[in-house]
Amino acid sequence: MRSITDTSIILIFILTSACSSDDEMGKMEVKKVPASFEYSISDSDPNVVLFDNTTMGQGAYTSDWDFGLGGPLVSDQPGLEEVRYDNEGTYIAKLTVSNEAGKTTASHTIRVDQVGVCPEGNCDPGRTESLKRSAQGFAIGTAVRSTRLNSTYDEVLKANFNNLTSEYQMKMNIMYPFEGNFDFSAADAIVNYAQENDMNVHGHVLIWHNATPNWITDFTGTDAEFESIVKDYITTTVTRYKGKVKSWDVVNEAIEDGTNQLRNTVFRQRMGDDYIKKCSRWAREADPDVLLFYNDYNLVFNEGKRKAIFALVDQLASEGLIDGVGAQLHIQYNAPQAGQIQSVVDETVSRGLLMHFSEIDIRVNPGNDITSMSSDRAEAQKVKYKEVVEIYNAIPAANKFALTVWGIKDDDSWLLDFWGNPEWPLLFDQSFNKKSAYYGVLEGLE
Ligand code: G3I
Repeated sequence: MRSITDTSIILIFILTSACSSDDEMGKMEVKKVPASFEYSISDSDPNVVLFDNTTMGQGAYTSDWDFGLGGPLVSDQPGLEEVRYDNEGTYIAKLTVSNEAGKTTASHTIRVDQVGVCPEGNCDPGRTESLKRSAQGFAIGTAVRSTRLNSTYDEVLKANFNNLTSEYQMKMNIMYPFEGNFDFSAADAIVNYAQENDMNVHGHVLIWHNATPNWITDFTGTDAEFESIVKDYITTTVTRYKGKVKSWDVVNEAIEDGTNQLRNTVFRQRMGDDYIKKCSRWAREADPDVLLFYNDYNLVFNEGKRKAIFALVDQLASEGLIDGVGAQLHIQYNAPQAGQIQSVVDETVSRGLLMHFSEIDIRVNPGNDITSMSSDRAEAQKVKYKEVVEIYNAIPAANKFALTVWGIKDDDSWLLDFWGNPEWPLLFDQSFNKKSAYYGVLEGLE
């Protein structure tokens, strides 16, 4: 039997060890909490990083971010921290975790190149985003001017586009300014640039009442002489670019808004109602391989005009004088609806013709109610570009031709002069930075 003394000793030992363990517990050092975080790149915007605080620790501690962009520390909030890195460069993102024992930090190096944030900080020099590389089975085009080639436009042009449309320099008023005097200098510059950079050229446009030289409009000779001049112009031009200009808009905007009838242009007056067939035939005779398009606007907004246009298309198709339809798509962030765009595609595809969305720009300021590009209009524009591209991307392969945006950067757009109010309708801003709209196209191509 144990003596009282033994029991007391044991009790004292237990209490002491308990106390000492309590003391040890009380004295046990509070350790620092090791900081840790991960990051990923946003699926919808390659310049946006999502930071995830993965710190695990006992007791109370705080976490503060330094995203490497300057400015004060940012206290960590529940969920992911979304941070945009617009400019190319290297940034050190750091997380500091503090508790009564002190601070710990974790950091990651964020590298940004022209494409966006580099995965795991590895910026492979060969990696570039590219609209044309993302398009499957059709070309990505843009409107160009000869004075903007071999210039600051080159990097964007070569990275993203493989089909060029002359914005105005391959029209009759430029290429045939005076009787007997052709001037192909600008057209040659565009075609040569395309040839040098593995791009096609979509010829725009042989006949357009809005780009007709005065000597033609005011021609005083006979109708037969008039027709002979037009035939000679088309034959000379299409022959000159045979094999280089693979497709031509033969006539542009021949159907009149409102009446939905054939416009009474000088060509109709002097050559008759079948002038479009005649011009198409002459182009086909000059280059049997060239693709012939009819190009117009408001097909998506105006059902009556759309029906008139496809009646004209049917007349041309009955004689094998058309290969494709160009719907210009000068649209806006809030119109038309997808179904209206789809109608144009369905009319074209059902006829076995090529579809060209030929002059895409998307106005964000149709009501002239903003004086600077707002984030909500930018987002709406991105959504509309994506919608247009998704509709095009769903077209059967046999009917795909090209998606062409009508210019490179916002301040180049014809819309600024045409409407006279601020507008940001294209894929790049005035400093060639990719806008959300660019990523809308990229997402639509996926
Ligand atoms: O670049 C010259 C400049 O050197 C000269 O001083 C100035 C004054 O003569 O003219 C400048 O060229 C103008 C060019 O745009 C560039 O600004 C031409 O005169 C002008 O006629 C030309 O307008 C073009 C218009 O078609 C007519 O050809 C627009 O850029 C072009 O965006 C527009 O595009 C049309 C499509 O072809 C058909 N669908 C509608 C679309 C918009 O109107």
